[in-house]
Amino acid sequence: MDIKKIFENNRSWINEKLKADESYFSNLSKGQNPEILYIGCSDSRVTVEEIMGANPGDVFVHRNIANMVSNIDLSSMSVIDYAVTHLKVNHVVVCGHYYCGGVKAAMEPADLGVLNPWLRNIRDVYRLHQTELDSILNEDEKYKRLVELNVQEQCVNVIKAAQVQKAYKDRNLTVHGWVFDIHSGKLIDLKIDFPKIMEDIMRIYKLI
Ligand code: CO
Repeated sequence: MDIKKIFENNRSWINEKLKADESYFSNLSKGQNPEILYIGCSDSRVTVEEIMGANPGDVFVHRNIANMVSNIDLSSMSVIDYAVTHLKVNHVVVCGHYYCGGVKAAMEPADLGVLNPWLRNIRDVYRLHQTELDSILNEDEKYKRLVELNVQEQCVNVIKAAQVQKAYKDRNLTVHGWVFDIHSGKLIDLKIDFPKIMEDIMRIYKLI
């Protein structure tokens, strides 16, 4: 992408929007009321709004390498707090994607400097599901399965937050685990059994 073309593109986009609705931007500036918090990977190929058919104002978005939810990451924790407590979203989505470079890096032995502690969270997911993952002999299938299990574990991490537990109790907030298949363009719902996970982990992680 040509960096010099960006402002030109922006001007055409403004004209396009105003042509369809002259109060588009004045309406947009009134505030946001999104229903969904989306936590996904920073990968440039996973264009959140585009793959979901969402419009500005629909989705509150947080992206980082390999869609991680780490309890010592002030950024993701603040995003969850703001979205759940203040914007009062009713759905939290963790969306991974097949062929995720972060997940791939965590499957290989390499010292990647400052990335080590971040990627170690994914190595921990591998260890939690080692029996299942080691039984998959096809490397590509194993890689894809780790992407899915990572999404599942990050959903569990979302549920560990007190704000999320409170919103579940007060207004039945739901956590969803999805995977975007870059190979086909398909968005896949992993159908994570949210009530079952709540039941299983709440004995340990219940905060409220
Ligand atoms: Co990725």
